[in-house]
Amino acid sequence: MRNWILILVSCLVTVIGAHAAVTGTGEIVLQEARFHLGDAPAGWSEPGFDDSSWQTMAIPEKWHGEGMYAQYRIRFQVPKGFVKKAPYRKIAIFDLAFIDDCDEAFLNGKPIGKSGRMPSDGGLPQSAWDKHRIYKVDARQLKEGENLLTVLVWNRRTRGGVYGGPFVIRMAQLEDLVSMTCSDDADATDCLITVSSDVRIRARVSIDGKEKRVCLRPRKPFKREIAYDGSAPAQVAVSVRDKRTGQSIHKDFAPKYCLTPSAPNEPRYNSPSVLGVRPGSPVYFRLPFSGLRPMLFKASGLPEGLALDGDSGVVSGSVEKAGEYTIEFEASNKAGTAKGTLLLKVGDTIALTPPMGWNSWNCWGLDISEEKVFASARALIESGLADYGYNYVNIDDAWQGSSRSDDGSLLPNDNIPDIVAIGDFLHQNGLRLGIYSSPGDLTCGGYLGSLGYEKMDADMWNSWGVDYLKYDLCGYRSILDTLPSVGKEEHKKPYLLMNGYLKSQPRDICYSLCQYGLQEVWTWGASAGANLWRTTGDITDTWESVLRIGFTLQRELWPYAGPGHWNDPDMLVVGKVGWGEGLRDSRLTADEQYSHVSLWALLAAPLIIGGDLSAVDKFTLNLLCNNEIIAIDQDPMGSQARCLLEKDSVQVWGRPLSEGSYAAGIFNMGDGTLDVNVKDILSESGYAEIGPLRDVWRQQDCPETVSIPSHGVLMVRF
Ligand code: GLA
Repeated sequence: MRNWILILVSCLVTVIGAHAAVTGTGEIVLQEARFHLGDAPAGWSEPGFDDSSWQTMAIPEKWHGEGMYAQYRIRFQVPKGFVKKAPYRKIAIFDLAFIDDCDEAFLNGKPIGKSGRMPSDGGLPQSAWDKHRIYKVDARQLKEGENLLTVLVWNRRTRGGVYGGPFVIRMAQLEDLVSMTCSDDADATDCLITVSSDVRIRARVSIDGKEKRVCLRPRKPFKREIAYDGSAPAQVAVSVRDKRTGQSIHKDFAPKYCLTPSAPNEPRYNSPSVLGVRPGSPVYFRLPFSGLRPMLFKASGLPEGLALDGDSGVVSGSVEKAGEYTIEFEASNKAGTAKGTLLLKVGDTIALTPPMGWNSWNCWGLDISEEKVFASARALIESGLADYGYNYVNIDDAWQGSSRSDDGSLLPNDNIPDIVAIGDFLHQNGLRLGIYSSPGDLTCGGYLGSLGYEKMDADMWNSWGVDYLKYDLCGYRSILDTLPSVGKEEHKKPYLLMNGYLKSQPRDICYSLCQYGLQEVWTWGASAGANLWRTTGDITDTWESVLRIGFTLQRELWPYAGPGHWNDPDMLVVGKVGWGEGLRDSRLTADEQYSHVSLWALLAAPLIIGGDLSAVDKFTLNLLCNNEIIAIDQDPMGSQARCLLEKDSVQVWGRPLSEGSYAAGIFNMGDGTLDVNVKDILSESGYAEIGPLRDVWRQQDCPETVSIPSHGVLMVRF
């Protein structure tokens, strides 16, 4: 609809030469503003302010500039009857599209909405660049005739301002006023349907086929609990009809369900089965045994220099002599005893399997703190995730102090003052610490980068016990901009420089390149010393994002991944995410999350969890702790899956595994359920002589035909 509105409006604008227009559907579209870049002049948002010296700015259009404020002023006409003739007269919707980074909007001088946190608000700035600004405004604030919309914007760096559409003002419809949610994170066997409304509405609410007359009132939501089978796809249909206006809305919820069978009480060795360390580097390895605690551990074949703590299952020490060591571990608890084998390769290559762990970015954004990182580190252990091989705890952007010390060293800021303590805690528990920086002067979040201080920073991180560096291009782009021509070599240069300093440290630092796949990083990342490289821009928790980043952009990258060097399609958007803006459950449905994790495992992608682990729910744990899915990701052969078949709404991705078997994912990309004959579709994908099939999520034999829900997956091993 937005498209034809735009066409209509641009016609109108050309005819009457104005910058605000009312469309046939009664929407007021604002495409031009008076614009001022810099700090806000006094009285700037008052109707009487003189903006005649301000420039004209198209909406949407971005401006260039760093760390700046800007102001927009837009006068517009509200036609007679705009409010009075609306089906719901109380609320007007101001749709301000998307704004880089923060904004505060006013109507006729009065505040109507705000997103993000600007420096002038105090505290750490908080971007809200990807939030659709939908401000609900009391319609009495709109006057017939001339009105004034003013917007204050703060932009963190480079291009700032409005994108994704013009400003649109319209009267609310039922879908704007009534929201329906299904909360199911606590326990995947019943879900709570909540219907709330911003205004009083006499409605017929139908949930799962049962209809009820309800009077919806602000702050008095209607709730109903629905029980469902928590181990199979379910659907709950909810609709609301307003008797008075005749408007109705409908939503089908697919509550979360758990596929991974509960782990046995007996000890079970999960992944990895191979570990790479360099001679003399400290080893931190927590035995990945799941099962009841307490558990006692034993080892045979430990090389000289390594010791196992029999109570905690933590292997530490260092091995001077290069070579391959097969170590047998044994774990016992009150339910039984089990063995596990690890091939320790002491040599030049680390990250022999894709790194696994947690990173602070997708949940906390720039709003990190020592408590938050510690809480996730503790939860990694207490929730049992560490027993499945998740072992890095990576602090992303915003740990840096605001300036370097006199000797040039960059210390952490007051929010996270004691990174060494975090590292010590992790190491004692056989886990590892990660940090973030940029080869530029500034990071993406506007914090200090390592430019000119590369050696000093690498030495400092070594002294803090850092085991992983994510090195993010951001600020270095301005250096690239000054060069006459920019190709692979120019992009590689700063990464090679840091690599030299990392490799000269007396410890293993897993090196993660983050430059969004520019200059086909997969063709040169390994030769820059990287263990992994981001292949795309940032992921977000939508199916569109997983589709683009996972299913589209990884297709041709399989030749470039292997032990020690991996394609990184970004972190897992599962659990509670929010980039610092108030955490929410990942917006991916349960089936989309199964597809997300399955595809990442097939792609031999790093499994770095983006959600807050201190708030991890049953569904997310079940999703992340499937030892057979993880074993595919961590397969020592390290062969990345290819897309073998794309037909109608099916995609089949498959990869060979080290013990002569194969793993494949049959993905349903369509909107309806898909029934497939599994062997037929696999032979169509190029597999001959398919042996017995195992359903990897359910960890049981796979039937001949299977129904795959919309955006869901069947993962098989054969
Ligand atoms: C970039 C990266 C993200 C995150 C932020 C931090 O956007 O791609 O993963 O590290 O920077 O500012």
